[in-house]
Amino acid sequence: MIPFNAPPVVGTELEYMQAAMSSGKLCGDGGFTRRCQQWMEQRFGSHKVLLTPSCTASLEMAALLLDIKPGDEVIMPSFTFVSTANAFVLRGAKVVFVDVRPDTMNIDETKIEAAINENTRAIVPVHYAGVACEMDVIMALAKKHDLFVVEDAAQGVMSTYKGRALGTIGHIGCFSFHETKNYTAGGEGGATLINDPSLIDRAEVIREKGTNRSQFFRGQVDKYTWRDIGSSYLMADLQAAYLWGQLEAAETINQRRLELWHNYYDAFKPLANKGRIELPVIPADCKQNAHMFYIKLRDVEDRTSFISYLKEAEIMAVFHYIPLHACPAGEKFGVFHGEDRYTSKESDRLVRLPLFFNMTDINQRTVINTILSYFA
Ligand SMILES: Cc1ncc(COP(=O)(O)O)c(C=O)c1O
Repeated sequence: MIPFNAPPVVGTELEYMQAAMSSGKLCGDGGFTRRCQQWMEQRFGSHKVLLTPSCTASLEMAALLLDIKPGDEVIMPSFTFVSTANAFVLRGAKVVFVDVRPDTMNIDETKIEAAINENTRAIVPVHYAGVACEMDVIMALAKKHDLFVVEDAAQGVMSTYKGRALGTIGHIGCFSFHETKNYTAGGEGGATLINDPSLIDRAEVIREKGTNRSQFFRGQVDKYTWRDIGSSYLMADLQAAYLWGQLEAAETINQRRLELWHNYYDAFKPLANKGRIELPVIPADCKQNAHMFYIKLRDVEDRTSFISYLKEAEIMAVFHYIPLHACPAGEKFGVFHGEDRYTSKESDRLVRLPLFFNMTDINQRTVINTILSYFA
């Protein structure tokens, strides 16, 4: 069986986890957490990176940090993971969904302004497949209307937009280190990137159960106390040790994924030229991280038979998000602004192919040949 995904393993993880176990400190904010955070701050250019248990937790931290409250509205695409919306719904906000662009499946930046009103507090662009949203337009809109931007860069680690790392352009960015992502913290994990320095102090307090314990550990105060609302949004250092192995090998992982991505692209280009399928589009300003390789088929029936055909050959290809506005909770907590011209139609046609760091060339060849035989 060729799985859709396998968690990345580079070979140094056990050694680092052993070192964490020997350090006498396994909880959050240990030595490996510091290393990972500093590496990301320097490599990506964020003022403060805080490791968290998941991207879901990072999005929740962002909603707390921005004081999102009942009556507020938050704009995002409907074609996203539930956590993008849940984080804000948990604070009582209404989610306003805007259509996606069919080329990148990212929020259509030209449709955002019409969805802004006096209740709007934030825009949450989701960089689908690690390909950047049109951030210049989104940041200009946020400035004009005095809104916050929270980048859901769950899939965007190591991607850039006009040379800037995804997750560092909005006021806050959120990464995922779940095992389905390019880099993992041993299965689950995330990071909150605080790019607006005025938000850093409160971010640390919210992450540390509402206390100023981070300042205490730095020797800046002589005791720590309850200061604000908060929760426990720290990653265990054992997980940070796993992640450290992956970040050290970030370039190797990225190059291998890009190689696999381009193998697929080149193999299927003739099918796209004949109009049988559509291939992903990477806009000129975007450098992608090969988080995902998807193709689009004619319609949902075509996709169903394609997935079944591959399954018969023991190859796991999978569709993706059910648009949130069409889900029971989406109907309850959100509203679609404007016309759903592409979200439902395009998501019905999309299928993702196996792509993971440890995938062998032979397995990829098998996937490619099986897909070519389907279309033959
Ligand atoms: C766009 C997006 N946001 C958020 C998440 C949640 O990430 P995590 O599993 O780290 O909480 C995911 C997970 O797949 C995602 O795809």
